[in-house]
Amino acid sequence: MKIESLLVHGAVDGDDKTGSVNVPIYQTATYKQEELGKNKGYEYSRTGNPTREALEKTIALLEDGIGGLAFSSGMAAITATLSLFKSGDRIVIPSNLYGGTFRVVDNVFKNFNIQYEIVDFSRLKDVKRVLESSKQFAKIKAVFIETPTNPLMDITDIEEVSKLAKEYGALTIVDNTFMSPYLQRPLKFGADIVVHSATKYLGGHSNVVAGLIAVKDQELWDKLHFIQNSTGGVLAPFDSFMLLQGIKTLGVRLDRHIENAEKIVEFLSQNEYVKKIYYPGLKDSKGYEIHKKQASGCGGVLSFVIDEKVDYKKFLSSLKLITLGESLGGVESLICHPATMTHAAIPYKIRQEVGIVDNLVRLSVGIENIDDLLQDLNNAFKESVII
Ligand SMILES: Cc1ncc(COP(=O)(O)O)c(C=O)c1O
Repeated sequence: MKIESLLVHGAVDGDDKTGSVNVPIYQTATYKQEELGKNKGYEYSRTGNPTREALEKTIALLEDGIGGLAFSSGMAAITATLSLFKSGDRIVIPSNLYGGTFRVVDNVFKNFNIQYEIVDFSRLKDVKRVLESSKQFAKIKAVFIETPTNPLMDITDIEEVSKLAKEYGALTIVDNTFMSPYLQRPLKFGADIVVHSATKYLGGHSNVVAGLIAVKDQELWDKLHFIQNSTGGVLAPFDSFMLLQGIKTLGVRLDRHIENAEKIVEFLSQNEYVKKIYYPGLKDSKGYEIHKKQASGCGGVLSFVIDEKVDYKKFLSSLKLITLGESLGGVESLICHPATMTHAAIPYKIRQEVGIVDNLVRLSVGIENIDDLLQDLNNAFKESVII
């Protein structure tokens, strides 16, 4: 079956017992046991819940994995994944990635003596050099990548990095939030674990905070399920239902997000007040060919640097249709200022070095009418030019 049909029908197509076309919400904490040790497969909803399980099976199906897990946020999913490691292990992360992921690595896991190395994943030689250091120093247990990265849209070759990581006995973990399985399936390219902030495109309506994991082998699933059940950051039945609904329309939504994003990129590239645009669909962008190889589209998020002739703060507050706010991937267009919002947890020096400058903004293009979006952007530029 093709991905569009898998999205609509998921892994559990409705409810056999009643014929309901939607998976019911099993709003229960516990389950009746017929006798000691005898139940219908469920004991307690932290360990397993049928609505959550339908979602977990669905993300596994969409990502070509053997199993999935659903968490109360993307960060809970990432935290569970990083809990696979122990004191003395090292992991490798990219120089620009979601600020919350950097924060948990730098401020939480480092306290448990899980160290990290920062690498530019577009330079495979550097990745190899860092992995090689496993021979002298503490062992590198995983590489954690985002492709495209948030917010600078750096592209990593999933296949090449996974191959390298495997040579050195490290896992490859991919945050697939920006692309979603509709556009990119990292497990097919050799990754071991895919994580999602399902709050974004999978949910699609900015009304659920959720995280998902899909894995390639049973042993990893068993370990992660043990962590999920032990640490308890599970997704509630109602939120699992909401995500199952969101996933059904992922394909049509993303087609429209992309159509609008491409038109906005065209508009911005002809705008005298825009200094630089980051979007993987730009032919002159660094990772263009690699992205084309591993993804079937470029998504609906783009970032751009506003010229000093424009007051970027005024620009942001002059927008009427496009909402200034955290998050991305919803049907409504959202704009954010990474330096003070999503990426404020990254130290100033690192932000400057990698390009998360003060006049950089990130736009998550929604599915509104394109003419209205272009008019909104145009008006905001006009109102914020410094005379
Ligand atoms: C790429 C990426 N990964 C992870 C997260 C964290 O997800 P959540 O906000 O659902 O905890 C985000 C949130 O913005 C994100 O953009």
